[in-house]
Amino acid sequence: MTQLADLSDSELKAYHRRVSEAYQAFSGRGLSLNMARGKPAPEQLDLSESLLEKPGVGNHQASDGTDCRNYGGLQGLAELRSVFAPMLGAKPEQVIASGNASLSLMHDYIVFSLLKGNPDSDRPWGDAPVKFLCPVPGYDRHFAICEEFGIEMVNVALHKDGPDMDQVEALVRDDPSVKGIWCVPKYSNPTGAVYSDEVVRRMAAMPAAARDFRVFWDNAYAVHHLTEERVEIASLLEACEQAGNPNRALVFGSTSKITFAGAGIALFAGSAANVEWFQARMGKRTIGPDKVNQLRHVQLLPDERALHQLMDAHRQILAPKFRAVESTFDGLLSDPRVAHWTKPRGGYFVNLETPPGCAQRAVNLAKEAGLTMTPAGAAFPYGKDPEDVHIRVAPSFPSLQEVEQAAEGIALCVQLAAAEQAISERGL
Ligand SMILES: Cc1ncc(COP(=O)(O)O)c(C=O)c1O
Repeated sequence: MTQLADLSDSELKAYHRRVSEAYQAFSGRGLSLNMARGKPAPEQLDLSESLLEKPGVGNHQASDGTDCRNYGGLQGLAELRSVFAPMLGAKPEQVIASGNASLSLMHDYIVFSLLKGNPDSDRPWGDAPVKFLCPVPGYDRHFAICEEFGIEMVNVALHKDGPDMDQVEALVRDDPSVKGIWCVPKYSNPTGAVYSDEVVRRMAAMPAAARDFRVFWDNAYAVHHLTEERVEIASLLEACEQAGNPNRALVFGSTSKITFAGAGIALFAGSAANVEWFQARMGKRTIGPDKVNQLRHVQLLPDERALHQLMDAHRQILAPKFRAVESTFDGLLSDPRVAHWTKPRGGYFVNLETPPGCAQRAVNLAKEAGLTMTPAGAAFPYGKDPEDVHIRVAPSFPSLQEVEQAAEGIALCVQLAAAEQAISERGL
C-alpha cells in the first residue's frame, strides 16, 4: 500500500494540488454539518415516542403498590432495577436508579469522596493530592470532572482489549494518591475498545496502594451494538467480589442512548457497602428520584427482550451511518494511506488517526469548510493529544446523506493536512 513517503517529489506535488482542488470544491458547496457530539438522531428518539403517553392517567402505582407520584424510594423502582441489572453485570439489589444522567452519579461519587471519603477511606480524598488514571483516548467529560476538582490525570495507553494493564498495575500498586481509573469497558468512547476477560480480572485483583481506590466502570454502551453480534464482557462487580475487593467496582450506565438522551434513567451498581454509602449521601440532596419516569420506562421496556428489540431498531438506523463513514474513508484515505480508523462493533464513535501533527490542522480546515468536528485533543486530559493524531468522528446525529458528505469532507481535510505537512517536511 502506498504511503505519502513513497511518492516522488513531483507525485507529492501533484497529490497536493489534487487534494487542494477537491477541498476547495467541497468548501464551495457551502455546507453546514456537525459531526462533533454523539447525540442520538431524532429518528432514534422517535423509537421511544410512546413514553410521552405513559404511564397514563390513573396509572401511577409500582408493582409493590408505591404511589410513584409521591416522595421516597431513594434506590429506585425494584422492577426497573431488575430490567437493567443484567446490563450492568449486577444483581437488582446492587443497583440504584436515580436521575437522568449517569455523569451526575460519577460526579457525585467523586465529590462525596473528596469531601467525606468513601467506605474504605481513612480520611476525605480532598485532604491530599488525588490522581486518576485515564486510558487514552477517552471520554472528554470524564476528564472535565477531574479538571474541575483539581484531580491530576495520568495518561495510560488504551489497547483494543482495554488499558495497558502492566502500566495500570504499576501505577496503582506504588502510588497511594491514585484513587481512581476511568474505564468505558464496552465499545469505548472513542476507540470502540472492548475490555477482555483478562483485563477485567486484572483490574479487579491488582494490589492497590490506596485502600479506597475505585474503578469507574462507565458501561454507557453496554447494549449499543452495531453488528448482529451482542458482545458480552465479564462483570467487574463479580470479579471484584471474587478477588476480595468488592468495593472497588463502581458501575455506571443509563438509558440516555436507549430512550431519551435528556429524559432517561441513570443507573449505578456497586457492592452493598457502596450502595448504602451512596444512598446515605444522596439522601441529603433528594428525597427520592422521579419514579413516574421510572414507571413509564418499565412500561416501555418490561424485560430484557424488549430492551434488545429496541436496541436492534437503533442499530438499523445507526449501522448504515457507520458503514458510510468506513466506506468513504476506505475510498479516500487508503491509497496513498494517510490515516487509520477504527471499525467499531458498537457504540457511537469512529476514531480517526492522522499522521502525527495533522489532527488539529485537519479539524481547522474542516471548520473553514463548514464542518464542525470534536476539537482535536478533546479525547485527552487537558485537551492535549501529545502527538496531535486523533479525531473523534460522531456519525449518529446527522442524516445518512449528511454523514456521507461530512465523511467526505473530513477525509479531504486529512488528505490536505497530510499533504501540506509532507510538502513542508521536504521543503518543496
Ligand atoms: C462514555 C460515556 N459515558 C457517559 C455519557 C453520558 O451519559 P449520561 O447521559 O448517562 O450522563 C456518554 C455520552 O456520550 C459517554 O459517551
